[in-house]
Amino acid sequence: MRQSLIIGNWKMNGNLAENEKLLNIISVSPILYEDIDVVVCPPSIYITHVRQQLAASKIKYGAQNVSAYKNGAYTGEISTTMLADLGCSYVLLGHSERRSLNHESDGQIADKFAAAVQANLTAVLCVGETLAQRQADETFLVIAQQIQKVVEQVGIQAFKQAVIAYEPIWAIGTGETASPEQAQEVHQQIRQQLAKYDENIARSIQIIYGGSVNENNAKALFLQADIDGALVGGASLKGEHFITICQASINH
Ligand code: PGA
Repeated sequence: MRQSLIIGNWKMNGNLAENEKLLNIISVSPILYEDIDVVVCPPSIYITHVRQQLAASKIKYGAQNVSAYKNGAYTGEISTTMLADLGCSYVLLGHSERRSLNHESDGQIADKFAAAVQANLTAVLCVGETLAQRQADETFLVIAQQIQKVVEQVGIQAFKQAVIAYEPIWAIGTGETASPEQAQEVHQQIRQQLAKYDENIARSIQIIYGGSVNENNAKALFLQADIDGALVGGASLKGEHFITICQASINH
């Protein structure tokens, strides 16, 4: 059985005092003794601080983005080896906010994916369709292409060390979640797509849902067969809500 995975994507929020308060709440939760992977992705500048605070905790941490390059003249960038150096285990790749605001292409995302896997980080590949694409019945096509581009570039075996996050763009930060059935349909499709390359990877990879997941709608999503957890934005900034979401994922 696939283990539940809940990732908190803090985006560009928080400060030293607020982060400490939030981690004080979640790092002592008894939920961490269950079979569950809990991860927080703070803004990179706070990773060292988060690392110190989580030193005695089972909670893992990661980054929201990374460079595809190892080192060199890339002002403002951070490499996968630097993240690994600070004890990160995960890195989000291709979040829709980065695809749209930073014009990241599937090719660039695939390069970052390869760099992440090489540095022993778990790559969390974010995919998702716009509202217009869903209305035009292009959801599966768009997501299949986003995934195929990466598989072609890095090879299916690299997905042994990856997670896929399905995040419909119209559901991110809008308060509008995909229904459990809508999300399940896409998750199943993703698994079927991966099975064409490698059945074992398709069966074992964690596919998580993101887009306005909160303490009220999480359980129904996690009851779906192919939804293994969540990538949580807004609700991950509220300790109690984040813990409730983690709880909802147990025995899904
Ligand atoms: P949200 O964000 O939960 O605030 O919708 C999810 C995400 O963007 O990862």
